[in-house]
Amino acid sequence: MTFKLPELPFETEAFGNRLSKETFEYHYGKHHAAYVNNLNKLIVGTPFENASLEEIIKKAQGPVFNNAAQVWNHTFYWDCLSPKQTSPSGALMTAINKQFNSYNEFREKFTQAAIGQFGSGWGWLVKNPDGSLAIETTGNAANPMTGGKKPLLTCDVWEHAYYIDYRNNRAKYIETFLDMINWKFVGNNHA
Ligand code: FE2
Repeated sequence: MTFKLPELPFETEAFGNRLSKETFEYHYGKHHAAYVNNLNKLIVGTPFENASLEEIIKKAQGPVFNNAAQVWNHTFYWDCLSPKQTSPSGALMTAINKQFNSYNEFREKFTQAAIGQFGSGWGWLVKNPDGSLAIETTGNAANPMTGGKKPLLTCDVWEHAYYIDYRNNRAKYIETFLDMINWKFVGNNHA
């Protein structure tokens, strides 16, 4: 299977200076594209040549895993973003209130987790097999699906995600990210 770089679900100018066109040119146009190209080269002649991205993430290790997971994580991250502010609602809002007491507590816990991820990685809201929600972080390319959890939301905390617009201020990037979430997408993942 040859993987393709998916279209972005918005224009690269859509977020103004919150996430700049230049960030998308590098983060999407260079980094995400490179993971796709690397993966396509790495799987030639391996058992993963005809596997789906999810199958590769669940079974592969090393460079094949890293590039496959980074392809998936970035596509998922773009889908988690919305230029217009949205809010969680319905069953997802109920689940957030049940797990974290309030949306504001969820925000605080997500922020602290994402700030606290040492080095490159991802902040996640996941659904556990028992249906409960959890916030977790993963290092480098790792994805909670390998641990049987369903990703609902992710925030890329690799420096390449924010360095152009926020320099080393990861906290400011995360604060802004939390107001750019496509909660409809997250709600659909939860349903
Ligand atoms: Fe990234």
